[in-house]
Amino acid sequence: MQPDSRELSTPRLRLRPLLLADARPLARLRDDPEVARHQSWQRYSEADADALIHNLAGQRPGTAGAWFQWAIERRSDAVLLGDCGLKTCDDPRLGELGYTLGRAHQRQGFASEAVRAVLDLAFRELGMHRVSASIDVDNLASIALCERLGLRREAHFRRSVWFKGAWCDDIVYAILGDEWLAR
Ligand SMILES: CC(C)(COP(=O)(O)OP(=O)(O)OC[C@H]1O[C@@H](n2cnc3c(N)ncnc32)[C@H](O)[C@@H]1OP(=O)(O)O)[C@@H](O)C(=O)NCCC(=O)NCCS
Repeated sequence: MQPDSRELSTPRLRLRPLLLADARPLARLRDDPEVARHQSWQRYSEADADALIHNLAGQRPGTAGAWFQWAIERRSDAVLLGDCGLKTCDDPRLGELGYTLGRAHQRQGFASEAVRAVLDLAFRELGMHRVSASIDVDNLASIALCERLGLRREAHFRRSVWFKGAWCDDIVYAILGDEWLAR
């Protein structure tokens, strides 16, 4: 039987589909100015979380043109720490990463552990060729995460993104499947 790619497990974490019961804790994690600073949202309500979770219902990772978002749950106490996502591009051999941890759960290696599992899925199960991440130049924690995972800085686009009222620099990190598998 094929493994269910909506469920991933790591030593400390369970990555699983987001459930409607996650809407309130997810909104609480995301509606924090520090967490929102480099993300597309300014405020994040329970209704926003509800809409996200509804849109994801029944989705699977690897669907061309679509994001799949996992809840990051700590195994020891089933607390929701954040979420991480993999976008499958229109060409399904290409992917893009997204990730968010609540402020209290940062700097404990949870994002690295979760994103490593997502990259394993992307390259080992979904057969992707390349996975990238697009990052605001000031998002040092996200840049450090990509470097820790072995992604390569491939581009620095100057003032290329209109973001929260200003033109911002966009940094692109990426890794190829054969590079990930040879690590
Ligand atoms: C980007 C983000 C996910 C990075 O999270 P993070 O917690 O810094 O990343 P990691 O999980 O890799 O944690 C690494 C840190 O945990 C420390 N750590 C502590 N215990 C650890 C353990 N058991 N294993 C591994 N690392 C551990 C590491 O030493 C490192 O510390 P440092 O930051 O002092 O160098 C987080 O900052 C975030 O959610 N930001 C807001 C949302 C956002 O901007 N998302 C990205 C959009 S592009």
